[in-house]
Amino acid sequence: MTGIARFALDGQVAVVTGGGGGLGSAGALALAEAGADVALIARNRAKLEDAARAVEATGRRAMIVEADVSDADGMIAAATEIEAAFGRIDILFNNAGITNPQSVLDIAPEDFMRILDVNVAGAFHAIRAFARPMIARGYGRIINMGSILSGRGMANRGAYCASKAGLANLGAACAFEFGPSGVTVNTLGATVIVTDLNRELVRTQPELYAKVVQRTPLGRLGEVEDLMGALLFLASPASGFVTGQTLFVDGGYTAG
Ligand SMILES: NC(=O)c1ccc[n+]([C@@H]2O[C@H](COP(=O)([O-])OP(=O)(O)OC[C@H]3O[C@@H](n4cnc5c(N)ncnc54)[C@H](OP(=O)(O)O)[C@@H]3O)[C@@H](O)[C@H]2O)c1
Repeated sequence: MTGIARFALDGQVAVVTGGGGGLGSAGALALAEAGADVALIARNRAKLEDAARAVEATGRRAMIVEADVSDADGMIAAATEIEAAFGRIDILFNNAGITNPQSVLDIAPEDFMRILDVNVAGAFHAIRAFARPMIARGYGRIINMGSILSGRGMANRGAYCASKAGLANLGAACAFEFGPSGVTVNTLGATVIVTDLNRELVRTQPELYAKVVQRTPLGRLGEVEDLMGALLFLASPASGFVTGQTLFVDGGYTAG
C-alpha cells in the first residue's frame, strides 16, 4: 500500500478520551468515518451518548465508558473493558482536557494541580493502560491533544501552558520507549477553536483572541474540521514513520 489506502482505519479500534466534548466527539466521528470502531471516555454520560449515536450512524460500533482520566485505576479498568468488548486497541486519542484562565499569582495551588492531573497525568494514566495491548501486538497510534501553548507561553494560562508543554514532551519520551514496538506517539498542536472549553473566554476577552487572529498568517481562528485531517493522518498507517512530533494545526501561528 502506498497511497490513500494507508489512511483507512477499517477494522481498527480507537479510544477517545474527552469523547463527549467539541473536539473529542468530532474526532470520534472522523475516526469512525475512516473505518474505526470507537470507545468514548468522559464523565458526562449524556454527551457521550450523543457522540456514540453519531459514531453508530456511520455504521461503526461505539461504546461508552464513564470515567475520570485522572483516576489511574479507572483507566486500567477502561482498557480491560474496551479490549474485552472490541478485542483490540489500535488508536488512543488522548484528548480530555480542561483549562483555567488565571494568573500564576492568583491560581490556587489545588486548581493548578487539577489542570496537571487531568491534562498530563490523565494522559499518562491512559497511555499506561492502553499502550500495553498495542505494544503486545506490535502496532499502535497514540495522539495527544496539545495546543499552540505546548511550545510557547501566554499570560493568564500558566497552568494550561505547563500542562500542554508537559504533555508534548511526555509524548516525545514515549516515542523513544514505544518506537521499537511499532507504536507511534505524536501531539496535535491546535490553535483556538471555539468549543465549550473556551466559548465564554472568547466572548469576554475579544481583544486577546483578536491578537491571536492578527498574528496568524491564515487570518482566523480554527474550526473543528481543520483538525480532522491531521488527526486522521496521525491515527493511520500513513504516519508510520512519524513519531515524537508536535504537528501544529494553527494557520501558521507558531511559524514566526
Ligand atoms: N478548543 C480549543 O481551542 C483547543 C485548542 C487547543 C487544544 N485544545 C484541547 O483539546 C481538548 C478538547 O478540548 P475541547 O475544546 O473539545 O473542550 P470541551 O468541549 O470542553 O471538551 C473537553 C472534554 O474533556 C472531557 N473531560 C474533562 N475533564 C475530564 C476528566 N477529568 N476525565 C475525563 N474526561 C474529561 C469532557 O467531558 P466531561 O466533562 O464529561 O468529563 C469533554 O468531553 C482539550 O485537551 C483541550 O485542551 C482545545
